[in-house]
Amino acid sequence: MTTTLITGANKGLGLETARRLVAAGHTVYIGSRDAGRGRRAAEELGARTVLIDVTDEASVTAAAKVVEAEGGLDVLVNNAGVEGRLPDGGVVGTADTTGDMTRTVFETNVFGVVRVTHAFLPSLRRSSAPVVVNVSSGLASLSGVATPGTPLYAYPGLAYPASKAAVNMITVQFAKAFPWMRVNAVEPGYTATDLNGRTGHQTVEEGAEIIVRMAQVGPEGPTGGYFDIDGPLPW
Ligand SMILES: NC(=O)c1ccc[n+]([C@@H]2O[C@H](COP(=O)([O-])OP(=O)(O)OC[C@H]3O[C@@H](n4cnc5c(N)ncnc54)[C@H](OP(=O)(O)O)[C@@H]3O)[C@@H](O)[C@H]2O)c1
Repeated sequence: MTTTLITGANKGLGLETARRLVAAGHTVYIGSRDAGRGRRAAEELGARTVLIDVTDEASVTAAAKVVEAEGGLDVLVNNAGVEGRLPDGGVVGTADTTGDMTRTVFETNVFGVVRVTHAFLPSLRRSSAPVVVNVSSGLASLSGVATPGTPLYAYPGLAYPASKAAVNMITVQFAKAFPWMRVNAVEPGYTATDLNGRTGHQTVEEGAEIIVRMAQVGPEGPTGGYFDIDGPLPW
């Protein structure tokens, strides 16, 4: 029996990933920073729920204790993320991006990934087939964002792509430090969710596909990679 925790799984890509992994036979924890939203999602899917705010050390430590006490963890999906858009849904342009805005995005997208992975390492180490999936973005790709004429090049913001580039680096360093587990970064593709005001052109079913695939990677599978649905991506 494989036990999986997905952070930020009360909606969007996390919820769809949870749905698919429940169907695949995993025992799934819906990680949610709001108890009510987590419980409703868990009831809908026949999953478990755990309260976890990835920006809060005490919340993450408490979640790790709960999951450990209930039997431990095999798969961690670091999915919780924010883009830090303006109230009207627009992307904050690079010229208008402040240090505080950048810190807020990094708190969830970057420090959250480190905080949660670090807290669950003892549990993952006890698994016979531990897996971590870091939900990154196409905007993490330095080569992609630096190539004129591409949609990635046209993205006007700073904090979000910088945070996801950091997630890619964290993935590589974790993979080297922990060769006993599979750690990969994935790009779901531009998907209609609350994160982007539902402007994405993919459905959550399409977007979750690579997350679900890499959550099920076996001990002989890749580690330290960056993938979308079609295969490895350029860093
Ligand atoms: N949608 C896309 O086009 C796209 C493309 C590439 C990558 N991604 C990545 O995919 C992941 C999922 O995003 P999504 O598109 O599914 O967006 P979403 O529908 O807005 O879901 C984001 C989830 O993260 C949770 N979250 C935010 N801050 C949190 C915190 N501090 N602690 C715990 N949970 C927190 C949210 O919880 P609340 O409900 O409490 O806010 C929500 O459950 C993100 O990492 C995003 O960067 C998305």
